[in-house]
Amino acid sequence: MLSLPLSNKKRDFFMKTVSNRSKGLFGTFATPGDKSLSHRALMLGGLAKGSTKIKGLLESGDVMATLSAMRKLGADIEKLPDGTWTVAGVDSGLRAPDSVLDMGNAGTGTRLLAGLVCTHPFETRFTGDTSLCSRPMNRITLPLAQTGARFETAQGGTLPMTVIGAKAPKPITYRLPVASAQVKSAVLLAGLNIDGDTTVIEPADLKSRDHTERMLRGFGAALDIAEDSDGARILTVHGKASLTACDLTVPADISSAAFPIVAALITPDSELFLPDIGINPLRSGILTALKAMGADITLENSRIAAGEPVADIRVKSSELHGVDLPASLAPSMIDEYPILAIAAAFADGKTTLRGVSELKVKESNRFDAILNGLKANGVACSALGNDIEIKGRGKNPCGGGLIEAKLDHRIAMSFLVMGMAAENPVAVDDVSSIATSFPNFIELMNKSGANIHDYRD
Ligand code: S3P
Repeated sequence: MLSLPLSNKKRDFFMKTVSNRSKGLFGTFATPGDKSLSHRALMLGGLAKGSTKIKGLLESGDVMATLSAMRKLGADIEKLPDGTWTVAGVDSGLRAPDSVLDMGNAGTGTRLLAGLVCTHPFETRFTGDTSLCSRPMNRITLPLAQTGARFETAQGGTLPMTVIGAKAPKPITYRLPVASAQVKSAVLLAGLNIDGDTTVIEPADLKSRDHTERMLRGFGAALDIAEDSDGARILTVHGKASLTACDLTVPADISSAAFPIVAALITPDSELFLPDIGINPLRSGILTALKAMGADITLENSRIAAGEPVADIRVKSSELHGVDLPASLAPSMIDEYPILAIAAAFADGKTTLRGVSELKVKESNRFDAILNGLKANGVACSALGNDIEIKGRGKNPCGGGLIEAKLDHRIAMSFLVMGMAAENPVAVDDVSSIATSFPNFIELMNKSGANIHDYRD
C-alpha cells in the first residue's frame, strides 16, 4: 500500500499539546548546548585547517541544517561514539554545493552562511520552511552586496535566495543600523575571504552578542576590536584569514535555560539547579530583568569555557513584581521576551517592555504573538508604539487559551510554561517547532515536575 507523508493525509482529528498546572519543579536540569555557539562552531570548524572537536553541540533542527550545509560546502563532519563531533575543515577552500541548502527554520544559520559563501566564487541556493521564507534577508544582502557579491531573492527580499559569490571580493566598512549579531557576523565572516580589512562599526546602543568575535579569535583569526570616542565598537577582520582548528565545549544555552528558570519562578514550591549555563553579558539580560522583578536566582561557580563566561544557576519560586524594562536591555535578551512576558503575567503590577520592535521579524511576529497569547489566557496587555505593556495578574487565575505556535519554538515553549502555573491548562496547537532549538524540552520539563501531554480532539 502507498504510504503518504503525514502532511498529505487527510487529518480528521486535531492534535494539541496541553500544559496542566504543576505541583512544583525540582532537581538538576540539563539544558542543551547553546544554539548560537553551535552554528558558529560548525562554520568556523568547517572553514579551518585541521580537525576541530566540539563537545556539547546542540543537536537540534536548526543546528543540523547548518551541519548539513557545511557538509555540502566541503567539511567532513562526524559524530564519535562518546557524543563529541569532529569537523575536518576545508582550510578556506569551500566547495560549491551541488544542491540547495535547505535551512529549515534557521535564521542564524542562513544569514551567517550567506556571509560565509558570498566571498567565494560560486553560487549557493538557500531555502527554508514557511517561517524562514517570510523573514527579511535585505538586512544582510545590503551590506554583503558591497563586496561585489550578488543576491537574487524572492519578492520582498526573502528566501528562496541565490547567492552569486564575488570572484574578487572587495573589503567594506559597514556601520550597523540595527542591533543584530546576525548582520554583524555575516559581514565579519564574509571578510575572512577578502584581501584587506573588513570593518563593522557597532554603535554603543546597538551592541549585540559577541560570540562570533570571541570564537574567531579562538580559531586564530586576526580580528582587531577597538572603541571610538562615542563608545562604538570597531571590529576589523584582516583577510584573507586562515583559521586553525581547535577543541571546544559549547556551554548550555541561556535562551533555552530561560524556560525552566521562569517555570520554577512562577510555579510555587519549585527549586531547580541548572549547570554550565553561558552567561555572556551580551546575552544574559534575562537574568538582570528577572532579578529586577524580585526573582530568587543565584549564580555559582562562575568561570570561562570556550572563551565564554559560564556559571551554574540556582532558581527558586519567587513573588515577582512588575518592572519597566528599558530599550537598552533589548539586544541582550531579544530571544527571551516571550518567556519574560509569561513571568510578567504572573507578577504583581504592570511590566513595560520598551523598544521591542525587532520581535516582529523573528521566527514569527512575536510582538503580536505575545499580545494575542496573553489575551487568550486572560492577561490584559497592550501595544504602545514599539513597547508592550502587561498587567500582571499576580495570584489571580489565568490560562485556558489555545495558542497557535506558527512554527515558532519560543512561543510554543513560553505558553507551555504558562500552563505549569496557571489555574486553567494552556494548549498549543503544534509543538513540532520546539525541536529546532530544544528537542527534549517536554521530556525534561515533565521529568522535573511539569504535566504536559498530547491530546487528540
Ligand atoms: C542570533 C542573533 C539574534 C537572535 C538569534 C540568534 C545569533 O538575531 O535573535 O536567535 O546567533 O547571532 P538578530 O541578529 O536578528 O538580532
